Amino acid sequence: MSNNPSGQPDSGDSGEQSWPEYLSSRESRGMPRSGEGSGESEGYGPPRRVIGTPPPATARTMLAGHGGDGGGETPRELPADPPDLVKAKKAERVVAACFLLATLAGLGFLVAYGLIGVGSVRDAQHSNLWLGGTLSVVLLLLGAGAVIWVRNVMPPVEQTEQRHPLRSSNADRAAFKETFEEGTETSQFVKRPLIRRTLIAATVPLAVAPVVLLRDMGPLPGTSLAHTAWRKGRRLVVYGTGRPITPAEFSTPGAIISVAPEGFQNDDDAMAKAAVIIIKFRPGELGAPTVMPWTVDDIVAYSKICTHVGCPAALYEQTTHHILCPCHQSTFDAAHGAKVLFGPATRPLPQLPMGLDSQGFLIATSDFHEPVGPSYWERS
Ligand code: FES
Repeated sequence: MSNNPSGQPDSGDSGEQSWPEYLSSRESRGMPRSGEGSGESEGYGPPRRVIGTPPPATARTMLAGHGGDGGGETPRELPADPPDLVKAKKAERVVAACFLLATLAGLGFLVAYGLIGVGSVRDAQHSNLWLGGTLSVVLLLLGAGAVIWVRNVMPPVEQTEQRHPLRSSNADRAAFKETFEEGTETSQFVKRPLIRRTLIAATVPLAVAPVVLLRDMGPLPGTSLAHTAWRKGRRLVVYGTGRPITPAEFSTPGAIISVAPEGFQNDDDAMAKAAVIIIKFRPGELGAPTVMPWTVDDIVAYSKICTHVGCPAALYEQTTHHILCPCHQSTFDAAHGAKVLFGPATRPLPQLPMGLDSQGFLIATSDFHEPVGPSYWERS
């Protein structure tokens, strides 16, 4: 490829032309300069590739009165049928298959929504997987069907459109109507009921989906968010090993571990609310008993669920006694009731009432005295 004197690239015999070459070749064949495009009025040979940006004054337009260099009406050039009807028929079936599969996937989305509950963490994971998967398949197949439709069923016409004032004249509106009808005919939408009906069928579940999603408006959580698995006498066990803890084993100042209520560490639903951290302090480091009422041998237990939007807050700075939430940098003062020092959280991390059982293991002496985690409407 080389550059010609007009500054437009020249392709030699590669099947490509610059715009000036292309327009003069149209003129030499008795065709109007205004009907630019790639081969739209030159029969159905291999599509011609024209290099560069079309001159604005001669770009083809869909609206009347703007397209020609003489200001006259632009002749309609959209052919009604694709060049290869046999190939188009095959493509039509492929498009219909895509739309039919999209219909099935859309129905699968609705079925998954109706059948898979979200009452537990695991159920919610399954629900998300199926809803996301089926919706992705619907959109993918609709997109694939549309692309195949455009490329293989519609006649190969390239159009360009110039900018015009936003308000259309009556002539333009009439021209648009004509163009729309011409486009409807050209797209084969009316002629090919198989594509039309399967496309409509594929979009119906998508249209219904937003309505059924309104079901998520209820029911209200009631008091379920106010309680956790912690009960009086339930041991604190190390999260991961399930081993109960004695204060003697957890005696290194500055140490922090995640704990779970005994018997619940593998219960994802329970742990979503009951995750706790315990921190060991040096004597004298903790605040007054009025703000730290439930310590055992300078060990304190806090909810691990950040009161902002519920991330696990478990980064701990030994020297400052700060608990950091990694999500939005809320900072809590572990030595003084986990009050908020910084960040978007507005409430302290709730403290778990703690004591010792007869064997010397750390236990809860009750559930949390307030709901853990983020605020919600029903929280008093
Ligand atoms: S979730 Fe902890 S700061 Fe946002």
